[in-house]
Amino acid sequence: MVNPNASGNSTAQASISPCDDREGSDTTSSTKARETVIEVDKVSTHFGSHVVHSDVSFEVDRAEIFALIGGSGSGKSTLLREIILLQRPDSGSIRVLGSELSNLGEEDALALRQRWGVMFQHGGLFGALTIKENVGLPLREHTQLGENLIDELASAKLAMTGLTAEVGTQYPSELSGGMMKRASLARALALDPEMLFLDEPTAGLDPVSAEGVDDLVLKLRDIFGLTIFMITHDLDLLWQVADRVAVLSDGKVQGVGSMTELSRMDKPSVRQFFDGSRGRAAREQDLRLVGSAATHVHRSTSSKPK
Ligand SMILES: Nc1ncnc2c1ncn2[C@@H]1O[C@H](COP(=O)(O)OP(=O)(O)O)[C@@H](O)[C@H]1O
Ligand SMILES: [Mg+2]
Repeated sequence: MVNPNASGNSTAQASISPCDDREGSDTTSSTKARETVIEVDKVSTHFGSHVVHSDVSFEVDRAEIFALIGGSGSGKSTLLREIILLQRPDSGSIRVLGSELSNLGEEDALALRQRWGVMFQHGGLFGALTIKENVGLPLREHTQLGENLIDELASAKLAMTGLTAEVGTQYPSELSGGMMKRASLARALALDPEMLFLDEPTAGLDPVSAEGVDDLVLKLRDIFGLTIFMITHDLDLLWQVADRVAVLSDGKVQGVGSMTELSRMDKPSVRQFFDGSRGRAAREQDLRLVGSAATHVHRSTSSKPK
């Protein structure tokens, strides 16, 4: 695959192992070494007198699927915006791919932004452009590639997300919610990023489309080695794809761990995500799938345990 990034850091197709020895890695050649790609350290944020984050800390490893959960207004999107350089915290430090964000120059910030892709909750596609033009936009903006190559790369990204060439000729208003999410994902993948940020990737989707997103997220990590950081309320998605989950509540990270680990925690601020009816359904599903043949509790279609 052509990598339009000057840094040439994406070796997506070559890497199946989550911990390969990519360029830029500060690990040794050990294939087992962990590499931290996002480091949030004692981050605090407030709006006026409203404290949103108070000493929030966690780390995300390369090729990990990491989820941030928390009630509405708990500060998930604000934290995501801080990690992707759209906003600054009041204090604390955020390091992404080895760079401390608080003292990045403009050029370094631009280079860093090209190493990740973002899928915003509402897609953010331009209505006046076709899907293929939307997907090709980052290539047009950030590379000197010719039109033919951009067209080919945009088609490849659409195919990667399961969309046909025909969809590429359509306009955003003509697509279903599920197709729109995929198109937005294809655009996030345009510059062959190392990391993907997804804000509510399954929100508003029917169960079948949502399940397609589960599979796609897993594929992007397993085949292309992407690190995926997502915000979601979707318990199925969490149980099926997330390696680790951080629970944000009352301005703090109340717990970090696998869904199984979190579901066993006694802390009320963590329990609330497992004790509601949806939480119980997801937990029952997990237990059933572990113990016997799959019975589908939450989403109506086939679900696989992680
Ligand atoms: N630019 C802003 N100005 C003032 N308050 C804000 C701003 N952005 C977010 N907030 C507030 O910060 C809190 C966290 O918001 P947000 O990060 O969007 O929450 P979440 O994504 O978890 O629902 C909310 O109370 C929200 O109203
Ligand atoms: Mg939000």
